[in-house]
Amino acid sequence: MEDHRISNVVVLGGGTAGWMTASYLGKALGRYATITVLEAPSIPKIGVGEATVPNLHKTFFDFLGIPEEEWMRECNASFKMAVKFVNWRTPGEGEAVGRQLRGRPDHYYHLFGLLPTHQNLPLSHYWAAKSLGGQTTEQFDYACYRESPIIDARLSPRFADGTKWTNYAWHFDAHLVADFLKRFAIQKQGVVHVQDEMTDATIDQRGHITSLKTKEGRTIEGDLFVDCSGFRGLLINKVMREPFLDMSDHLLNDSAVATAVPHDDEAHGVEPATSAIAMKSGWTWKIPMLDRFGTGYVYSSRFADADEAAKDLCALWNLDPEEQPLNHVKFRVGRNRRTWVRNCVSIGLSSCFLEPLESTGIYFITAALYQLGKHFPDKRFDPVLIESFNREIETMFDDSRDFLQAHFTLAPRTDTPFWRACKDLVLPDDIQHKIAQYRAGLAINMPVTDEATYYENFEAEFRNFWTNSSYYCIFAGLDVLPDHPLPALAFRPDAMEGAEPVFAQIKQKQAELLKTLPSTYEYLRELHGR
Ligand code: FDA
Repeated sequence: MEDHRISNVVVLGGGTAGWMTASYLGKALGRYATITVLEAPSIPKIGVGEATVPNLHKTFFDFLGIPEEEWMRECNASFKMAVKFVNWRTPGEGEAVGRQLRGRPDHYYHLFGLLPTHQNLPLSHYWAAKSLGGQTTEQFDYACYRESPIIDARLSPRFADGTKWTNYAWHFDAHLVADFLKRFAIQKQGVVHVQDEMTDATIDQRGHITSLKTKEGRTIEGDLFVDCSGFRGLLINKVMREPFLDMSDHLLNDSAVATAVPHDDEAHGVEPATSAIAMKSGWTWKIPMLDRFGTGYVYSSRFADADEAAKDLCALWNLDPEEQPLNHVKFRVGRNRRTWVRNCVSIGLSSCFLEPLESTGIYFITAALYQLGKHFPDKRFDPVLIESFNREIETMFDDSRDFLQAHFTLAPRTDTPFWRACKDLVLPDDIQHKIAQYRAGLAINMPVTDEATYYENFEAEFRNFWTNSSYYCIFAGLDVLPDHPLPALAFRPDAMEGAEPVFAQIKQKQAELLKTLPSTYEYLRELHGR
């Protein structure tokens, strides 16, 4: 029988996407295919401090067989238990600490994991009924999750003996991740690394790419080409001419200015969360790692110019804009109409990008690799595989885009032209429908699995990435509550009563954890051998 297997995969680009792709395919294809990474050392990669989501370890590093401690050490990684939204409800200048709102700081957490359920309803719904009925004034994230006060106290998601007690993700230095994976792919998987600049591509009569030409005169042939060339989209957009669908009518931010700030961890601890601090014309990330944090103001160039953004970012952290090294980045928001066209698949920034509010960049790479592994073609390139892959990526992206847009549209701030303009953006039907369900007291996107299975089974997570828990964290966090409790609850006073011990258990667990956990700083110092 004829062997149709792909034997040569060429990856264009050596950023996070390029090396994640090479190492993932190195594992998935084993010795049956040669993988070549073509990377131009003179063209810089996007490398800002980066925040992730929990499936990264299970779906990517675990698949490669790399223990968490090993890659964490190599990449100066720290823990992330949530995104902390600061000052998204109160007007004013950018301030790193929450302004006072109803007697407490204006911040709320978007936590990972699923909520406990009681009589088949998530705890969010009992909280909403109590909150709407005036029986509690406690914020949703503190009433329904163990983690919120633990994050405030900067404690670790692992006990001192290493036992994990909650779901978490990571912060890390993106350049270190690309370097680590490069070494892994070259040394352990035999990936070929060519340092040269692609200048041209040859195409056959079917419109398939057959080889890449380089500045130094090389010709690199392949069966399958993965475009990881970043925002340039050199293969997918320029060679294949696939249109990029601009979605700036959904999300206004198109620019960022980033830097790193030294931090005295011993005095102040290491926060185990990414902060998203609302600013005049966007928001600023704070990504804590040992000894420093990465930070960047994500803004809309319609409402602030680069100098103003640099000034506001520096003012937030008391930095001198004249002295501080600043990295200005322009980005495109949207996705390719099709991510995979003939024998060219785009992964990373060449494929799609949403501003980094919910840390979706590396998640999209991980998910695309999982889907590519599942839909991996042979030399016949069955269009059904390609169409199915493209549908998965499109749904993943558009669903996340809508979720992000809702953050800006529902935020009660209207104090600056940027925040007012966010209110004018039209929400797509799908998310409008979800908001209507939420307002009617229904749970949105309830996963069909329990929490343990959710993170163990990427297929289940991928189909249901933003769950009822995520929507509740953001909507309730922004003070948008259901119009009324789920009507069915009024017939079940026993269920309401029965939920009380669940709330009490959360309080008890919070108190226990506050007494027993090591600080994030202590845990990381030990892990990194500092
Ligand atoms: P990247 O641009 O890094 O790499 C492109 C590669 O292509 C480079 O190696 C370059 O040399 C190569 N190349 C280009 N032209 C070439 C040519 N002609 N020949 C050969 N090689 C060529 N994600 C996340 O998960 N959490 C986060 O917190 C953030 N934060 C964030 C902030 C901002 C401001 C941005 C813009 C992005 C993020 N991201 C993110 C997204 C994340 O940065 C991104 O997904 C990864 O770094 C992947 O980048 P790529 O590898 O796709 O492109």
